[in-house]
Amino acid sequence: MTLTLEDCRALDKQDPLAPLRRLFRMPPGVIYLDGNSLGPLPAATAGRLQAVVEQEWGVGLIRSWNSAGWFMQPQSQGDRIGALIGAGAGEVVATDTTSVNLFKVLSAAMATVQARDPKRRRLVSERSNFPTDLYIAQALCEQHGWTLDLVKSAADLPAALGADTGILMLTHVNYRTGAMHDMPAVTAAAHAAGAVCIWDLAHSAGAVPVDLRGANADYAVGCGYKYLNGGPGAPAFVWVHPRHASAFKQPLAGWWGHAAPFAFTPDYQPAPGIARYLCGTQSVLALAALDCGLATLEAAQVHGGMTALRRKSLALTDTFMTLVEQRCAGHGLEIVTPRAHAQRGSQVSLARSSGAHAIVQALIARQVIGDFRAGDAASGEPDILRFGFTPLYLGFEDTWHAANHLREVLETGEWQQARFQQQHTVT
Ligand SMILES: Cc1ncc(COP(=O)(O)O)c(C=O)c1O
Repeated sequence: MTLTLEDCRALDKQDPLAPLRRLFRMPPGVIYLDGNSLGPLPAATAGRLQAVVEQEWGVGLIRSWNSAGWFMQPQSQGDRIGALIGAGAGEVVATDTTSVNLFKVLSAAMATVQARDPKRRRLVSERSNFPTDLYIAQALCEQHGWTLDLVKSAADLPAALGADTGILMLTHVNYRTGAMHDMPAVTAAAHAAGAVCIWDLAHSAGAVPVDLRGANADYAVGCGYKYLNGGPGAPAFVWVHPRHASAFKQPLAGWWGHAAPFAFTPDYQPAPGIARYLCGTQSVLALAALDCGLATLEAAQVHGGMTALRRKSLALTDTFMTLVEQRCAGHGLEIVTPRAHAQRGSQVSLARSSGAHAIVQALIARQVIGDFRAGDAASGEPDILRFGFTPLYLGFEDTWHAANHLREVLETGEWQQARFQQQHTVT
């Protein structure tokens, strides 16, 4: 059946989540398909930041660490993130960056494995994992005499898990393709092989239902600035299963992770549990912005929370894929995101052998904002046009217009104009 604009409008009319768009300050005319990279500005954030600056900082001064609850924000926001990813209260802190948090949990995981079985010194991951994860893993492997073993595809993972594997480190939803791992099954396979499992939830938290406890995972990290709408450079988060949380000191043993930071003792005593994963003074302004981002997801609770968001996200991505197939056929695009619901996150990625970057630039000029991810010539990965679909602020009519603009950009050859050929630092 051919999808029409009227079909999309009818879907919007029945959408119980449609009013949530008002929670964002979206520039008029923009179709924002990049919330998987940087969530848009929540309507509450600017006012909240102003109040934090003028009242809490300006008037409250240093008293606000206590009176405005600044000191406990990493934990209180961590609990709210935990509710989105199947973690218990007191198991998550919002802090630092995903890269830094990965360094902490990987170090702790290496120590955990070594204490149990010093022969296990192989860390398995995917070649297609997000590069920062691989760089951090590479650095730690070099430092601790481990081997980093990168498989070419998810299908190669079972064979790669062996008696010398200590850690399996994966990103739940692939940043390029949007393909999603079966977290419980993969975690169980890692455990059966005697390894611990670390998950990067950068493209999962706030995008798909995650159940870390249910999957019996070991460690997890993720971003605050993507689907959590915390703003550019928002604090990331870190979760450690309680069975590991107090087992080891993480290597960035700063005073905020001390059991009694204001005792100012010269020796380090780690705080019990997840608090030891804090390092130094937290960014209060960034945490205030993250607070507003989390509130946008919490506003969906009355409509069915993550279950309802996921239902709409799948419907949006299904619709967009169908529209691309129906309206953009014959232009060299290949949908590389899996069609099966259980195997994908909240984005649609299109591969094209040439022109992907320029096509994205031409779309951006038409106010349809997606992004471009370069391919990997060595492993034959194509260039990708990436489109994130966030059910909090996108509707079905947006998917129709996005596909239509894509069709026009391709049909007219508009993307070949010189102005779209220049590549900026951030793609
Ligand atoms: C899967 C994944 N992990 C980590 C990061 C980077 O995290 P950060 O820059 O916060 O260290 C990203 C950024 O896009 C990502 O997609």
